[in-house]
Amino acid sequence: MALKTINPTKTAAWTKLQAHFETIAHTHMNDLFAQQANRADVMTIKWEDFYVDYSKHRISEDTIKLLLELAEEVDLKDAMSKYFGGDTINKTEGREVLHTALRNPENAQVHVDGKNVMSDIYKVKQTIKEFSNKVIEGELKTYKDQPFTDIVNIGIGGSDLGPAMVVDALTYYKNHLNTHFVSNVDGDHVNEVIKNLNPETTLFVIVSKTFTTQETLSNANTLRTWFLKHAPKTAVSKHFVAVSTNIEKVKAFGIDENNIFPMWNWVGGRFSLWSAVGLSISLAVGFDHFDKLLLGAHKMDEHFKTEDFDKNIPVITALLSVWYNNFFNAESEAVIPYSQYLNQFATYLQQGIMESNGKSVDRNGAKVNYQTGTIIWGEPGTNSQHAFFQLIHQGTKLIPAEFIGFAKSLHGDQGHQDKLMSNFFAQTEALMSGKSQKSVIDELKAQNVSEEKIKELTPFKIFDGNKPTTTFLIEKLTPESLGKLIAMYEHKIFVQGIIWNIFSYDQFGVELGKQLANTILEELEDDNVMNNHDQSTKNLINYYKKQK
Ligand code: F6P
Repeated sequence: MALKTINPTKTAAWTKLQAHFETIAHTHMNDLFAQQANRADVMTIKWEDFYVDYSKHRISEDTIKLLLELAEEVDLKDAMSKYFGGDTINKTEGREVLHTALRNPENAQVHVDGKNVMSDIYKVKQTIKEFSNKVIEGELKTYKDQPFTDIVNIGIGGSDLGPAMVVDALTYYKNHLNTHFVSNVDGDHVNEVIKNLNPETTLFVIVSKTFTTQETLSNANTLRTWFLKHAPKTAVSKHFVAVSTNIEKVKAFGIDENNIFPMWNWVGGRFSLWSAVGLSISLAVGFDHFDKLLLGAHKMDEHFKTEDFDKNIPVITALLSVWYNNFFNAESEAVIPYSQYLNQFATYLQQGIMESNGKSVDRNGAKVNYQTGTIIWGEPGTNSQHAFFQLIHQGTKLIPAEFIGFAKSLHGDQGHQDKLMSNFFAQTEALMSGKSQKSVIDELKAQNVSEEKIKELTPFKIFDGNKPTTTFLIEKLTPESLGKLIAMYEHKIFVQGIIWNIFSYDQFGVELGKQLANTILEELEDDNVMNNHDQSTKNLINYYKKQK
């Protein structure tokens, strides 16, 4: 069954939210806290090892009530049962959206074309487990009969960002294998990685759902050519494995059928790290940790599926994001993890969020006349405090931010942890409370600054505050809590797509540039070919050809 097509702006809740917005737009959060003694308690969700405080938002309890009404009116419940139930909700590509099935327990029932897919999923999981164990334990040998030392994941987009982010995030849990990621078609990227590799002990994992992606195939070819400069042709079958849905194309590339880890069309690229696309994760941290990541995601799936909307983390975070995007006209959102391990988290989320919800046509095929997908960006704190926080604190733009922190550090250095977390708490407090003119003046007076100088400096030192943040305080960064966090964002994306009445699971927007690049490549390689281009592009191509 297809998703319903409900224009959110035509709902009664939307009209009420618009009227309500006028009453709250100029209210300061400091006043909201003053008016409601238990505000932070009411606006906190405690679930498993997650403590999610959304009280530092420009909302009242009425706002949440109305946003929940919006969720009801667009029939989020119905959409959720179609999502988990395997309906073809990726209508424009004619596919189910079933990454959630990948983290189900084995005895679950998920049907695609009348067949329960759980046994196929567990068969592949078993091969991931056996293969990872053999490589890690040195049982699987190189062509020189040695254990493997290095893994190279060759993929791009969803076939790179998820595994790369997770391997980095779980560095603490890593084993002895060195893991490398090659994604960009930029030859300097692959050649820099090659500098650190020993062909005799390196395992190459080519990850491409379609096995037609230019970047991945170019990098795979370059790496194989380099490998064959050092090793005999027969060694390829021991050193190259692939993850794909396109078994024929993988075989044509020369990969042994036994070295292919299958995936399925009902797993979208940007949601695929839970499938065999996560092979590099399983190799880097071991299958048991990979399985814990899946378990965490499954727990979040259950929370999302069963929890009432007013205590449902993905639902509440998605609604808050809609509130700022569509009523405050905020254009972007920041994600600030207070953990260097999550260095690649925002980059990873950019694909998930922006490739999914960067759409301007609704589910009826009509142009929307309201805002959809938000721009997402971020960097870990405290580094980001010394980079772009100035603009969030005192700039002209409203940037809601999600702060993610962990109560316990992994190495147990409490001195560092307390410093890190004091910044974590201080920033959300500062963003909300700001600094009044009076405090600025009092502070300068206490520093014995002259009256004249105080007058001059005061306007620059005032912080308006009232900047919204959500705080995720999680017990500890583990494979399981990371799985929960990633799945939380996957469901947030889904909820937003449902509200905006768009299709979140296609990505036609990446096609046009790819097509043109192929045309231009012919021109760059053959001086006799020149296609029709605008004058600017033609000049640039000619200039490049003269320079190269
Ligand atoms: O960028 C477009 C895209 O299709 C992504 O959705 C996908 O994750 C990526 O390319 C890689 O695709 P593939 O896994 O088929 O190589």
